[in-house]
Formats: sequence, C-alpha cells, structure tokens
Amino acid sequence: MTSLALLLLLSLCSEATPPPCRVVHQDVLCSNLSLRAVPADLPDPIHMLDLSRNQVENLTQETLLYRTDFYQLNLHGNRIHSIQLGLFKDMTQLKVLDLSRNRLNVLAHSGGNVGPLTSVESLDLSNNGLYTGMSDYFLADSPSLVNLSLSGNSITKISQRTFRGSSSLRRINLHNNVILEIEDGAFDFLDHLTELDLSKNSISCITDFNLHGLTVLDLSRNSIELFHSAHTGGFYRLHRLDLSQNKMAHFPLLPVNNILEHLDLSRNQLQSVNVSGSPEKKASLIFNHLRFLDMSYNQLRSIPECFFYCMASLEVLNISHNCLGGFSVSQEGVLHRVKIINLSFNTLQTLSFKDNSLQSLEKLFLQGNGLTTLDQQIFHRLSNIRFLQLQKNRLEICEGKGTESGACVNFSSVPNLECLYLSENNLRKVPSNAFVNSPLKLLDLSLNSGLEMDEDSLSGLERSLVHLRLRENNISHLNTDLSSLRSLRHVDLSTNQLRSLPTWNQESSIESLNLQNNNLVALDYRTMVALERSLKTLYMGSNPLSCCRNLGFLHMVQRSAVVVPDIETVTCVHRDHSEPVNIEKVTEEMCQGPDVPRYMVIIVVVMLLCAVVTIVLLVRTWHLRKLKRRRSFSV
Ligand SMILES: *[C@@H]1O[C@H](CO)[C@@H](O)[C@H](O)[C@H]1NC(C)=O
Ligand SMILES: *[C@@H]1O[C@H](CO)[C@@H](O)[C@H](O)[C@H]1NC(C)=O
Ligand SMILES: *[C@@H]1O[C@H](CO)[C@@H](O)[C@H](O)[C@H]1NC(C)=O
Ligand SMILES: *[C@@H]1O[C@H](CO)[C@@H](O)[C@H](O)[C@H]1NC(C)=O
Ligand SMILES: *[C@@H]1O[C@H](CO)[C@@H](O)[C@H](O)[C@H]1NC(C)=O
Ligand SMILES: *[C@@H]1O[C@H](CO)[C@@H](O)[C@H](O)[C@H]1NC(C)=O
Ligand SMILES: *[C@@H]1O[C@H](CO)[C@@H](O)[C@H](O)[C@H]1NC(C)=O
Ligand SMILES: *[C@@H]1O[C@H](CO)[C@@H](O)[C@H](O)[C@H]1NC(C)=O
Repeated sequence: MTSLALLLLLSLCSEATPPPCRVVHQDVLCSNLSLRAVPADLPDPIHMLDLSRNQVENLTQETLLYRTDFYQLNLHGNRIHSIQLGLFKDMTQLKVLDLSRNRLNVLAHSGGNVGPLTSVESLDLSNNGLYTGMSDYFLADSPSLVNLSLSGNSITKISQRTFRGSSSLRRINLHNNVILEIEDGAFDFLDHLTELDLSKNSISCITDFNLHGLTVLDLSRNSIELFHSAHTGGFYRLHRLDLSQNKMAHFPLLPVNNILEHLDLSRNQLQSVNVSGSPEKKASLIFNHLRFLDMSYNQLRSIPECFFYCMASLEVLNISHNCLGGFSVSQEGVLHRVKIINLSFNTLQTLSFKDNSLQSLEKLFLQGNGLTTLDQQIFHRLSNIRFLQLQKNRLEICEGKGTESGACVNFSSVPNLECLYLSENNLRKVPSNAFVNSPLKLLDLSLNSGLEMDEDSLSGLERSLVHLRLRENNISHLNTDLSSLRSLRHVDLSTNQLRSLPTWNQESSIESLNLQNNNLVALDYRTMVALERSLKTLYMGSNPLSCCRNLGFLHMVQRSAVVVPDIETVTCVHRDHSEPVNIEKVTEEMCQGPDVPRYMVIIVVVMLLCAVVTIVLLVRTWHLRKLKRRRSFSV
C-alpha cells in the first residue's frame, strides 16, 4: 500500500514539474532554461533544436544525447569552450549551425577546430573572440559551407589559407573585426563568392580589386584612402558598393566594365570628383547602370556637368552637406532619369536648369543653402517637379500678377508642384494669388516671424491644399479665410499670438489642429461646433484660456469627441484660483453664479441694504412731518 502511494506521489511530482522544452512540430525550443545539456525524452525526428542562451560548456555527443538527426542547431549564447573531436562529422543532415557568442577562442587556442562540417551550409561564428590564425584551420574541411559569419571577432588579417577549406562560400560576413591586411589572392579561389561584408574594420587601401564575381561589397567604416581596381579588363558583376565613412580624397577608380547600380561615397573627404592618378584613368568613369549615387558629407566645391554625362540611368543623387557654390544643368539630356536630387546644406549661390532639362525630377532638396536670388521662373523649367524643400534660405515670393523686377521666385502655375517648404526664409509677405494654379497639397510657411499673409494669398488652393503649416510666425490675426479651403485637413498654427480662432463654417473638414502656445482666451463656440464634426486631434496647451468662457470646449473634451494629446498642459484661469486650473478639473458648478468675486457681492449687498434702510427712514420722517403739519392745521 505505502509503496503504491509513494509511486503515485512521485508520478504526481514529476507531472507537476513543467517540461523543460517546448516542442512545436519537429522543432524543440529550449532557449534560456539554464541547461548544461539536452534534456531527455526528445521527439523523433528533430528538425531544429534551439539550445541558445543556456550554460553548455563542453559540447559532446553526450550533451546532445547521441542524436545526429538535426537539420538546424542553435547554440548561440552558451559558454562552449570545447567541442568533441569530429562531433559534426556524422550529422549528415545538419545544414544550419549557430555557434555565435561562445568561447571558441579557448578551443582554437588549444589547436582544436569545429570540423569536419560535412554538410553545414550556414555557420555563425560571430562574437567568439577569435583572432587571426584561429580562423585558418578552424574552417578546415567544410566543403558545403555557403554562408559564414565571423563578425564581432578580433581578426586582423585575411590570409590565403583562411577560407581554403570552404570553397563553396557565397556570403562572408567579417563586419566589426580589426582587419588591417588582406593577402593577395585571399578570395581568389572562391568561385561562388557574391557578397562580402568588410565593414567596420581597419582597411586603409584597396589596390587591384579584381573580384569579378562579387555582386555586393561593403567596405564602409574603414579608413580607406584609396580604391583602385586591377587593370585587367573583363566583366565585373558588382552592383552595390558601399565606401561610406572612409577617408577618400579622390573618386574611386572602378572597373571599366561595370554594372554598378548603387555607389555610396558619403562621409569621406572628397574634394573633387577627379580620380587620383593620371588623366587617362578619368576615361574609365563610365557608369551606365548607376541608379543611386551618394556623395553627401564630403568637401566638394564643384562638380562639372560632364561628370554626369556617363550616368544616364541615375535616379537618386545625393550631394548634400558639401561646399558646392553652384549647380547647373545646361543640356537637355543630362540626368534625364533622375528623380531625386539632394543639394541640401551646401553654400549654393547659383542654381540653373535649362528649359526641359531634368524631365524626370520629382523631388528637389535645397534646404539650408542661404539662397537669396534665383531665376524667377526656375521651377517652371522642371516639368515634373512635385516636391520642393526650400527651408532655411532667403527667398521672396513673387506677387501674383505682372512681371516684377525684384529678386523673387514665382510659385504660381508650377503644374505638378504638390509640396512646398518655405519655412525659415525670413519671408515678410505672402502676396495674393502666390500659388494660384499650382496644385499644392502641402504648404509650410513656418518660422517666418512677422509674416504678413494677404487675404487672398491662398486663393487657388481651395481644392488641393491638405496640410498648412504656419508655426512660429508671430501672427496675431489671421486675415486669410481658411474655411474656403475645402480639402484642408491638417493645420498647424502653434506658437503665434492668435487671440481668436480663425472662423470655420459648417463645411470644415479639419482633422488635426494645433493651436498650442497662442493667446487664446475664449474659443468661439460656433467655430468649435463646426470643427467638432471632423476634428480628431487638437493641440491647445499653453494658452491663457478662461475656464468659464469655454464650457463648450470643455464638454467636447469631456465627451472625448476629440483627442487632446497635450491635455496635461491645457489650463485655464478661474476667479477662485490663483494658479491656472487643468481643463479636465473644471466643472460646470465652478462657473455658476455671478461672474464677480464674493467680497464684491457682499459689499454690494451691504450697500444695497444701507440704501434701503436710509430710504425707509427718509420716507418715514417725511411722512411723520406731513402728519404733524396736518394735525397742526386741523387744530
Ligand atoms: C531568460 O530567463 C530569465 C529568467 O527566467 C529572464 O529574466 C530573462 O529575461 C530571459 N532572457 C531572455 C533573453 O529571454
Ligand atoms: C569534455 O567532455 C569530454 C567527453 O566527455 C571529456 O573527455 C573532456 O575532458 C571534457 N572537457 C572539458 C574541458 O571538460
Ligand atoms: C544564406 O544567406 C542568405 C541571405 O542572408 C539566405 O537567403 C539563405 O537562406 C542562407 N542560406 C542558408 C543555407 O542559411
Ligand atoms: C580635376 O580635374 C580637372 C581637369 O582635369 C582640373 O582642371 C582640376 O583642377 C582638378 N581638380 C582637382 C581638385 O584636382
Ligand atoms: C542621401 O539621400 C538619399 C536619397 O534621398 C538617401 O537615401 C540617403 O540616405 C542620403 N544619405 C545620407 C548619408 O543620409
Ligand atoms: C538629403 O541628404 C541628407 C544627408 O546629407 C539626409 O539626411 C536627408 O535625409 C536627405 N534627404 C532626403 C529626402 O533623402
Ligand atoms: C508666374 O509664372 C506663370 C507661368 O509662367 C505666369 O503665368 C505668371 O504671370 C508668373 N507670375 C509672375 C508674378 O511673374
Ligand atoms: C511679435 O509681434 C508683436 C506685435 O504683435 C511684436 O511686439 C513682437 O516684437 C513680435 N515678436 C517677434 C519675435 O517678432
């Protein structure tokens, strides 16, 4: 009897402890369970075993319960410092092996290695403290290896032996090591190599680049001063080259027969687009396939137009944050596919486009140039321009009619213009009909302190305008009628001196309105009712609102018909409180009774009483006298 009870108890106990691993189909998930080995009772067969983030130290057949039928094995984040010799040899189905973030440097230091890896195609050895030499024999005998990551180690040199044992490699990740040297021919026998990531290393110079089969090469964040391809002819497959964040003073010398599509040279020290060395090398600058070119954050002072002659496919050109004094396109065919040009934060003084040039250009970024004068009709030459970013310049807007001599830019009748940013231009005036016949959806006129807007400045935008930004303009009264802008949805009027709301009639379709930081005391109730139909978001903080004159607004907030994201800062002034009251704490009762302080009421009442008493007394004395007189007569 007792033994039976004990047995029952034991089985209950063992049932009470939860199974350590989760099993999903044929995947066994044992991550983060403080395990030193695989627990017993695993299903059969196993496709994937996740043993990551545990405490495995010594990886042996025993640790893996003598199982060999894995397809994928994840041992990331353990403390593995020793691997039984030939452990993976019999795992003929093992394709994916993750050994990242372990202590394999200990194993490598004692002369051990992970191989042979009979069938492994993807191996992750990142963050194992491996240094040069170790990786050489470590990979011996891994004939099926396709993907290899060695990132986050301390490798200083890639030698001819490094990848000897793994000739099927297609992708190698060596990001974040300290590679100073790559031996000649280190990658030569890797016939299938297509992607190589050497970013964040210490490479200073690439001479004789000759990896014809490579399609993606990442050399960003090194100290490269020079990039030269080998003089050999032949066809190169490279289509993406990242050389950003290096120290190049000259344009790289790329293979003549290239199909490069994406070239990133941002954050270097380019002073000109000249290639270093002899003039005949310049002839090799042919980029018929290039679609993306980034040369931002360099020191370019000028770029000759001819530089772009051989870039007929270019779609995105970023030359922002340089020292360009001018930019011009004087020939029709040049850059005819370009969609985006980013010239922001240069020191442009001249900018010119020939009629009908840049026919595909949709977005032009010119912010932060301090531009003062531009040809009046400059944007009419760009037949497809939709987006103009002109923040932080010093431009003036031309008056709606007639030809003007003054330096101004004409923004009317730009047939495709949808977004126009003119903030921080020191604009003094937006004249009438300034944007007529331009289908603007977004207009940003913020940060032009003292801006005067003509009553008809936005006419012509009735159907198109959706976003209007008038932030920080020190406007005290908006005399432009916004209610005629039927498509308007988003309005920013924050940080001005507005004392009253702009009026909106019943047809308002405003969805978000920002009135933060103005001088609003009382909100016109009818306008609020008109807005409420469509309004979803309202910013109202930092206004000297009166509590009792805005009960309509209060109701709106309390019904939560409208979201007020800055509700914490929406306060109002109430006669009974010396400090502003949060709008959520205001009740209707607080506002009942006369709108005068109590002591005033008391004084008035006392005075009235006094007056009544005096009158009564006067009347009585007058009455008495009359009576007396009558009596005296009658006597
Ligand atoms: C691992 O488990 C511990 C305790 O069970 C938990 O605090 C921790 O967040 C887990 N870590 C991860 C990465 O899941
Ligand atoms: C690892 O395990 C093997 C086999 O069980 C054993 O021979 C070896 O001594 C162990 N190594 C360490 C460092 O614990
Ligand atoms: C190798 O890496 C590529 C790209 O990350 C991936 O698509 C492919 O599935 C990987 N191959 C294996 C066997 O993991
Ligand atoms: C670039 O090359 C042109 C023409 O060969 C030359 O006139 C110019 O001085 C060079 N610029 C620099 C910065 O070397
Ligand atoms: C340059 O501009 C392009 C296109 O707008 C963008 O994709 C890229 O990130 C920019 N470069 C930098 C360094 O920001
Ligand atoms: C223009 O280039 C700068 C980098 O110089 C980048 O930060 C910005 O995002 C670019 N603008 C666009 C719209 O790509
Ligand atoms: C602006 O350009 C349009 C189209 O060329 C023209 O009709 C209009 O008169 C111009 N406005 C001014 C003020 O020059
Ligand atoms: C804003 O406008 C007021 C007058 O309405 C003026 O006194 C004040 O100086 C202006 N502030 C700025 C920064 O322009």
